[in-house]
Amino acid sequence: MPADTTPMMKQYLQMKAEHPDCILMFRLGDFYEMFLEDAKLASRELDLTLTTRDRNKPEGERTPMCGVPYHSVESYIARLISKGYKVAICEQMEDPALAKGLVDRDIIRIVTPGTVIESSMLEEGRNNFLCSICLQEPAVGVCFCDISTGEVSATAFAGKDAMEHLWNELGRYAPREAVLSPAAAEDPELRAFLRDRLDCRCEPGAEDRFERSAAWALCRKQFRTGLEGLPEQGEAAVRAAGALLDYLYTTQKTDLSHLTAFQYYTSGQYMELDLTARRNLELTETMRAKEKKGSLLWVLDKTKTAMGGRLIRSWMERPLLSPVPINKRLEAVADLTGSAIARDEIAACLREVTDLERLISRVVYGTAGARDLVALAGGLGRLPRLRELLSPFRSSLLCGLRQAIDDLADLRELIGRALVEEPPFSVREGGFIKAGYDQDVDYLRDVMTNGKSMVAAIEASERDKTGIKSLKVGYNKVFGYYIEVSRANYDLVPDTYIRKQTLVNCERFITQELKDMEHTILSAQDKIVALEYELFCALREQTAARVGEIQATAAAVAQVDVLTSFAAVAAAGGYCMPTVDLSDKLDIVEGRHPVVEKVLKNALFVPNDVHMDSGENLVAVITGPNMAGKSTYMRQTALIVLMAQMGSFVPAKSAHIGIVDRVFTRVGASDDLAAGQSTFMVEMTEVAELLKNATAKSLLILDEIGRGTSTYDGMSIARAVVEYCADKRRLGCKTLFATHYHELTCLEGQIPGVKNYNIAAKKRKDDIIFLRKIVRGPADQSYGIEVAGLAGVPGRVIERARDILAELEAQGAPAPAAAPARADDQISLTDLGANEVAERLRRVDVNTLTPIEAMNLLYELKQKL
Ligand SMILES: Nc1ncnc2c1ncn2[C@@H]1O[C@H](COP(=O)(O)OP(=O)(O)OP(=O)(O)O)[C@@H](O)[C@H]1O
Ligand SMILES: [Mg+2]
Repeated sequence: MPADTTPMMKQYLQMKAEHPDCILMFRLGDFYEMFLEDAKLASRELDLTLTTRDRNKPEGERTPMCGVPYHSVESYIARLISKGYKVAICEQMEDPALAKGLVDRDIIRIVTPGTVIESSMLEEGRNNFLCSICLQEPAVGVCFCDISTGEVSATAFAGKDAMEHLWNELGRYAPREAVLSPAAAEDPELRAFLRDRLDCRCEPGAEDRFERSAAWALCRKQFRTGLEGLPEQGEAAVRAAGALLDYLYTTQKTDLSHLTAFQYYTSGQYMELDLTARRNLELTETMRAKEKKGSLLWVLDKTKTAMGGRLIRSWMERPLLSPVPINKRLEAVADLTGSAIARDEIAACLREVTDLERLISRVVYGTAGARDLVALAGGLGRLPRLRELLSPFRSSLLCGLRQAIDDLADLRELIGRALVEEPPFSVREGGFIKAGYDQDVDYLRDVMTNGKSMVAAIEASERDKTGIKSLKVGYNKVFGYYIEVSRANYDLVPDTYIRKQTLVNCERFITQELKDMEHTILSAQDKIVALEYELFCALREQTAARVGEIQATAAAVAQVDVLTSFAAVAAAGGYCMPTVDLSDKLDIVEGRHPVVEKVLKNALFVPNDVHMDSGENLVAVITGPNMAGKSTYMRQTALIVLMAQMGSFVPAKSAHIGIVDRVFTRVGASDDLAAGQSTFMVEMTEVAELLKNATAKSLLILDEIGRGTSTYDGMSIARAVVEYCADKRRLGCKTLFATHYHELTCLEGQIPGVKNYNIAAKKRKDDIIFLRKIVRGPADQSYGIEVAGLAGVPGRVIERARDILAELEAQGAPAPAAAPARADDQISLTDLGANEVAERLRRVDVNTLTPIEAMNLLYELKQKL
């Protein structure tokens, strides 16, 4: 530190040294300033001008600095946080005007991506999770917390697949920030997964943060419920929770009493979905654009409150596994679909319910302003109506929710009495306490507005007392209030008057009463500001004390919102109530793809059936031309199952769904290019994972497995996978398998449980008509050339391809679909190999072929004949 460092800079540098990993925002009057490296970084990231405090020094010795005005600091913090930085906020702890010497300053909070609470930095319908991961042989514990809503959940895994389960949970919660135990921080794969796949900031935590007894102590102190009866491995979750709390205490430095319940869940409660399935099925965002539009959530989410918006996401990401709670939800949805009018009224009422969860969190946190309290009371005020609207419904879930909704009438009434309807933004400038709430406030306001009449009153009474008719009370800046008496009346002036000023024709005096009045008027403004703030803080504390009740009510409102949304979507989309039980059935009559049917512009969606069970109809091998609708059909089946297990109605005429423990998907390599995951290795890793983790109760969606390698290898793998899935001694689970390897259709009849299906298309002259109907049996033809024509491959190439195909067929090359399997159950390589040219043609991606390449390809093919 240079010798001439100012005391303030010393103060700054000391704080910076204590928080080297944060950008330090240092309050200086009306600005938050950043210095040195922080200043350079912030000027880059925030487009701020870099300046300096010491312009008269030589350039090399100047301290770089940049600042943001205090009133707009939130938006700058938000930008830094979204870029993954941590920001330490240093405030002035005393009024600089009153401070003797250096102003006392302190770090009041560290804002990090996982600990944001300001509504401007949060997405409404989405949770913002901080997580903590404790890798402690033999168990893996993980804890998730959204401090903006007060939700804390945790789980733990043991055994060889523990890490995989962890990854899936991380994928489900998509935390913004993770506190890692030393072992977790040293796992490069885990860090890469968090950083690259989830865009999550990693905070390495010291070992003692995760220490057993300290963690238990913190958790016992923080949580009112949820720590009893944990399973053995639950300890790892407690350790993770302890570290998470420790991180919150050190960064937030404030009341966290809204984190009341520690919710420990086990993997048996919710369906586990891996990141691949989540992405392939486009549950909450589309695969390519990563947008909500086009996802299942986009179709199902008609929630009206922010709380419902977050809950529907969470329900979608965690379908249930047991029929009782699923059917409770379904009955509630059925109840609500029954009455369009009531549903609309509920929706209209919900629309006016504010984000109670986040509001109460800010109240507890001490960051809520008067507007927040008014919004909270306003939201609560809608609840009596909501209860009334729910009263006709008889389903047990809705009845329970209605009872759980408490509008906290007393608190509402209190807030309504205390605060004006539209309070100003700041609680530091007064003007928000309602008249009649507090006597002192009323009096001070009276003093301020009625200063004039007080002056007049004093004037009148002094005239009376002294008998001086011309006596006046006046005001000037130098002396304040005074009594003015003209020269002629000097002898009437009483002794109690104190002379202040003598003018040509008059004399000015003051009295004690006048001074008191002056003081009252002039200090009323300051007093009222302080008093209003004090009253507000008391009110906020009273509200904070109700956190438990408000959270419980918010949770119930959120559920009503989601169920109503399900019902609205079901009614508008003609969905049906599925039968969900523990049978082995998967029967869907006239099922539709919930998203595709919405986005089809010029065509009607063609519904299709599914009939599967754990016996004869275990594996469906689905063939059909490109573009026929194979992928759509398989995904719609998976989505219908997931929707049913979420408790939603499904887009079908009827559906009977035996509960599935997991849905696995594998989508062919070239369908997945956008994610940069097109290599065969990745495809096979995913196949390996899925075969390892699936059980007889799982549903497998396998879309063109094996397409990323040479034909024979690919086909052999595809066939082996089908065999494995169909084999009851191995997997024996329901599998939908789409393939262009028509040779696989020979498996029906050879392997029990395998059935062929195809999606019909018809050839009319040279054109192809997609019927989109799934029918039994293998596809007769590939129509690859016709589809190539549809895609705009030049007519000459298409014609030539037709010729080649005709020649090949004439030469006796086997029609692809008809390939018979040999008795020894192996795929006949000679049958397959006879047709290299056709195979090349089948595999060529016509969309990316330039005319020159097409010519070259034709030439090459010709050489082979
Ligand atoms: N049942 C249906 N009704 C109406 N249109 C449909 C239906 N199924 C699919 N489609 C339309 O056909 C398009 C192609 O479907 P899909 O991607 O499922 O075909 P595919 O058989 O998997 O093709 P490929 O073999 O090239 O992968 C869809 O994007 C959709 O627009
Ligand atoms: Mg496909």
